[in-house]
Amino acid sequence: MVIEGKEYDYFCGTSYYCLHGHERLIRAACDAARKYGLGPATGWDMPPLREVEELAAAFFGTPKAKYIVSGYLGNFTLAHALKGEYHRIFVDEVSHYSVFDAINSVGKPIHPFPHLNPEGLRDELKRHLRPGEVPLTITDGVFPVTGAMAPLKEYAQVLAPYGGILCVDDSHGVGVLGGNGRGSLEYWGIEGERCYLAGTLSKAFGGFGGIIPGDEALMERIARYVRIPVGASPPPVPAAAASAEGIRILAEHPELRERLRRNVAYLRARLRDLGFEVDDSPVPIISLKPRGNLDLKRTQEKLKEKGIIVKYVPPRGYSDAPGVGTIRIAVFSEHSREQLDRLVEALRHLVH
Ligand SMILES: Cc1ncc(COP(=O)(O)O)c(C=O)c1O
Repeated sequence: MVIEGKEYDYFCGTSYYCLHGHERLIRAACDAARKYGLGPATGWDMPPLREVEELAAAFFGTPKAKYIVSGYLGNFTLAHALKGEYHRIFVDEVSHYSVFDAINSVGKPIHPFPHLNPEGLRDELKRHLRPGEVPLTITDGVFPVTGAMAPLKEYAQVLAPYGGILCVDDSHGVGVLGGNGRGSLEYWGIEGERCYLAGTLSKAFGGFGGIIPGDEALMERIARYVRIPVGASPPPVPAAAASAEGIRILAEHPELRERLRRNVAYLRARLRDLGFEVDDSPVPIISLKPRGNLDLKRTQEKLKEKGIIVKYVPPRGYSDAPGVGTIRIAVFSEHSREQLDRLVEALRHLVH
């Protein structure tokens, strides 16, 4: 990454395969801009928009997929499309802003449950559900600051006796987790009728816009209950063309996921060797918590002086950010072993 003329090793953001700068995506966007302009204003009849939906359905192994103007609105779309199906909403207390904006707009009772806590969900269900009521549980699949994975399989088990619905904001899971990169539901082995995901094409896929895979029935509900696709302009067509190319690349090149997985495992292990409390998850977001006298804000500044950029997240500085400052490290498939080692060595000097 070049910033103000200086080259840095970059460990921020969400472009886990660096596809936003991939020549195929850039070419697809430029070709589409020349052919179609920026887009059809409020209409949807441009081939790249449909192509995204076809490619996404194939990628996620669902009959259909709905392409929407942003990932942020994916939770809104699901919560409204399904609103005839549930009575109360149970939400992880530090879910993403988009989750809370979505559920606050539905007009049904909302019950937060403790972060990442299936027993807490069980308690809230017992406390609030009346006989015959169906719960909707909604959470991030992967939390954007800490990289924590929601225990979705346990949530699904807790919900099963109530016929509950599980909706997952999987913005950071899609394209990354699961044997085929289909995200958190695939990772936990719970893809199916009562589990839904809202994803984004703006992170791992290198493009732009939200994506909701599903069956005909879900698409009909979206068409009936969600006005955004008819009332708002679609994603810009060049962005759609780039998104389609991003989906193609991830589908054609499973070795990218393997390379990311290797980089994540390597960096997590090396950071553990340095004494950081880092678990063994496959998520390409690594959170460093304070330890001893280490000032993480200062650490971030020192790393920058050494040509390495990581993100310092202030206490409660984002939806799931804890009450203490942390460093967020994003791992990419394209980081070289040398770059990962440079980060580790720089940290070693700062912590010892
Ligand atoms: C958990 C989560 N959900 C939703 C979004 C919004 O997605 P988009 O940028 O595609 O609107 C983000 C971040 O951008 C996010 O981190």
